[in-house]
Amino acid sequence: MELKDRVALVTGASSGIGLATAKLLHREGMRVVLVARTAAKLEEAAAALGEGAVAIACDVGELSKLTWLVDQVVARFGGIDVLVNNAGLHHRGDMLRHPPQALADMFTVNLTAPVVLTRIAADHMRAGGCVVNVASLAGKLGVPGSAVYSGTKAGLRFWALAAAEDLARRQIRIANVNPGPVDSGFFDADIHGVSNLTFSQPMSSPEQCAEAVLACVRDTRSPMEIDLPFASGKLATIGYLSPRLRAWLRPALERRGAKNKAAFMRRRGLG
Ligand SMILES: NC(=O)c1ccc[n+]([C@@H]2O[C@H](COP(=O)([O-])OP(=O)(O)OC[C@H]3O[C@@H](n4cnc5c(N)ncnc54)[C@H](OP(=O)(O)O)[C@@H]3O)[C@@H](O)[C@H]2O)c1
Repeated sequence: MELKDRVALVTGASSGIGLATAKLLHREGMRVVLVARTAAKLEEAAAALGEGAVAIACDVGELSKLTWLVDQVVARFGGIDVLVNNAGLHHRGDMLRHPPQALADMFTVNLTAPVVLTRIAADHMRAGGCVVNVASLAGKLGVPGSAVYSGTKAGLRFWALAAAEDLARRQIRIANVNPGPVDSGFFDADIHGVSNLTFSQPMSSPEQCAEAVLACVRDTRSPMEIDLPFASGKLATIGYLSPRLRAWLRPALERRGAKNKAAFMRRRGLG
């Protein structure tokens, strides 16, 4: 797809992977609509990008607002070419320590919102358009301590893999980017809740995730998936296919993860 002057809608775009993606797509010449809940930070991010970047404050978990959101983009730019479903929510740790509503909220933000937003946006997407979901390696292999989050991301991945056929009828492609741990702000609020297993895999940067999103946008396949890092994706698949091997590897991965987590906390000054 020639990206110049095309329109991208990126959710969760005021920090981390979403912001890096918005910056990269904008650098490619796209007009970019940045979405997040906190208006001030979002507007600052859009202003820093300059012409062709617009901020729309919206909580994607408020499903009744998603039609309004798409209408705003269409009124401004006439249509949508790329939708990046990136906003995500993670209440970490044992699911039994969270109130039921918090668990339901993860499904709403991580799974229902991308499905509903894609459905609404599809009516305004031009042929050749692309939907990219930022899922997770936790959606390829159930991660203890992230049970519900894993479930939401697995659901997101599988929905996309099956929805490709429906979207193909309108010449819209769909892709998943599945990162392992990413050096964004996602961990900072609850670093102690992040499992050692999560930290056992090498960290990617938000910029590497953004490059993966762009690679999906530029590709011609649908559905497609990119795992980050590639080797961690392969390990997750092997672990998924072989529970015995997974159990055997787990203690060594936990030890490596504990060391990596301690180093990350020192580097980031997190107590
Ligand atoms: N970081 C990781 O290790 C990692 C690994 C695998 C997958 N992921 C996935 O990557 C995605 C982005 O994470 P990140 O690491 O970039 O996190 P981040 O740095 O914390 O950024 C999250 C962004 O999403 C926005 N956001 C959060 N909830 C929202 C909502 N309900 N509606 C609209 N915007 C919302 C935040 O702004 P406001 O708070 O102002 O709304 C912010 O702009 C998530 O889906 C996450 O599950 C992350």
